[in-house]
Amino acid sequence: MNYRHAFHAGNFADVFKHALLLALLDALTAKAKPLCYFDTHAGRGCYALDDVEAQKTGEWRDGIGRLWDAAEIPAPLRRYVEAIRACNPHATLRTYPGSPLLAAHALRATDRMVLCETQEAEAIALRACLRDDARAHVHQRDGYAALHALLPPVERRGLVLIDPPFEVPDNDFASIEAALGQAHARWPAGVYAAWYPIKSHRAVVPFHRHLAQGPFDKVLVAELLVHPDDSPLRLNGCGMLVANPPWRFDAALAGLLPALRDALAPAPGAAQRLHWLRGERT
Ligand SMILES: C[S@@+](CC[C@H](N)C(=O)[O-])C[C@H]1O[C@@H](n2cnc3c(N)ncnc32)[C@H](O)[C@@H]1O
Repeated sequence: MNYRHAFHAGNFADVFKHALLLALLDALTAKAKPLCYFDTHAGRGCYALDDVEAQKTGEWRDGIGRLWDAAEIPAPLRRYVEAIRACNPHATLRTYPGSPLLAAHALRATDRMVLCETQEAEAIALRACLRDDARAHVHQRDGYAALHALLPPVERRGLVLIDPPFEVPDNDFASIEAALGQAHARWPAGVYAAWYPIKSHRAVVPFHRHLAQGPFDKVLVAELLVHPDDSPLRLNGCGMLVANPPWRFDAALAGLLPALRDALAPAPGAAQRLHWLRGERT
């Protein structure tokens, strides 16, 4: 595998994914009972934006860079920007937190995190990043196999984030479909969020069609396009499929998505979409 998330950390797709992740965790932690956060593709947890990888692509400038420098942060995005600021205490944007670190920020002392990462160097960095956090359990193993082995969590409440690298998109869509099917059999009440890239709309249709047929009764889809989704040659947008979303999560996204579009996607053809594949309708 060649994928290194350090090239992409903090780009528009990360901002979208992490703003939604925080909204999901905030909704779930509104109830007192402890929960388990399961990250199947955790990455290294923390990314230095002055590292050679981040500097080489500069992708973060059109992502977190746009919000960091904004004169005023739109209300729906304040929670997300505050979390990024908490990782950059000296007022300069140096570090971009990955999903495990943001989850650690949002979770409570009684919650637990299961974090899976296959690449040794990334797993070592992730352990170092969260070494003082007793809630974090880092596994250097295949996240799909871990999901199969470790679900349901003892807490019987929680969120699974599935965020694969999509080096071979058809394979990753198929892996997510299979993982969600197996996970539903073991833990039908879990909340599952799967991130995916959008190049052309056509490539995403079979994935949506598959999840529209089950096994989850409620499946919500949120998408952000920074360009029209008509070219397979570039990343035009991304989406998050949420199975068993928390109550009124669609209403929360109805405020969050337009704010993300306005902040991250000023080009003509930019758009956001929110719709139910199964269950409740907006
Ligand atoms: C998109 S990045 C994850 C980013 C992270 N979730 C975040 O938001 O900060 C995907 C990560 O999955 C890892 N990976 C790839 N295949 C994996 C697998 N089968 N199981 C666990 N990790 C995997 C890669 O090494 C990479 O670090």
